[in-house]
Amino acid sequence: MEKKETVFETIKTRRSTRNYSDREVSKEDLDMVLEAGRFAPSGGNNQTTHLLVITSQEIKEKIAKLAEKLFSGMEVMPDTYKSMASAILSSKKGGYNFHRNAPVLILTANKKTYSNNIADCSCVLENMMIMANALDLGSCWVNQIKWLNEEPEMLELLYGIGLREDERVYGGLTLGYADTPDGLPSRNPLERKGNEVTFVI
Ligand SMILES: Cc1cc2nc3c(=O)[nH]c(=O)nc-3n(C[C@H](O)[C@H](O)[C@H](O)COP(=O)(O)O)c2cc1C
Repeated sequence: MEKKETVFETIKTRRSTRNYSDREVSKEDLDMVLEAGRFAPSGGNNQTTHLLVITSQEIKEKIAKLAEKLFSGMEVMPDTYKSMASAILSSKKGGYNFHRNAPVLILTANKKTYSNNIADCSCVLENMMIMANALDLGSCWVNQIKWLNEEPEMLELLYGIGLREDERVYGGLTLGYADTPDGLPSRNPLERKGNEVTFVI
């Protein structure tokens, strides 16, 4: 009883954190978030999601700067996805950092030719976000590297930090303590207007 209430509360109060303090995430907490991700289900039990866990300030900066450069060279079309259009416009203005210098940036990669690559990465990401909330850590899904995952310059950088040639990045997560007075993430659930349920009886 207590357990199911705790799990449901942890799921319901997970919110995206986009401003982080410099406070480091302990190795113990980071390992727990990563293990929660690794215990996600996968299609056919493939377990081919590959987590690139970036805590190096230098690498985080390199990735953010390259993403900004690549987005700033793109044009917004009428059918450009809203968030991507915002990344392009912010990059053209300058000073765009998609990961907002969170202490930890986790990229989720998977085999390029595997049909469940995005689905498996999504399960891993959701598990990590729920675990982060349970540990009082903030987190946010960041999709920018997925949008750039066939850009040669980005691929070169990613190969240099451990991405394998047959893999691509399908999602990302920022992780750290929220930049709030008590260091806790916002936990007010957003009202559900969508995610419709149809009972078939
Ligand atoms: C597939 C997916 C992609 C997302 N991409 C981004 C992103 O690139 N940058 C960002 O700040 N938030 C991103 N988000 C977070 C959503 O904006 C956020 O979950 C949504 O607004 C609901 O807010 P909440 O997470 O606080 O409940 C993404 C979420 C999902 C599920």
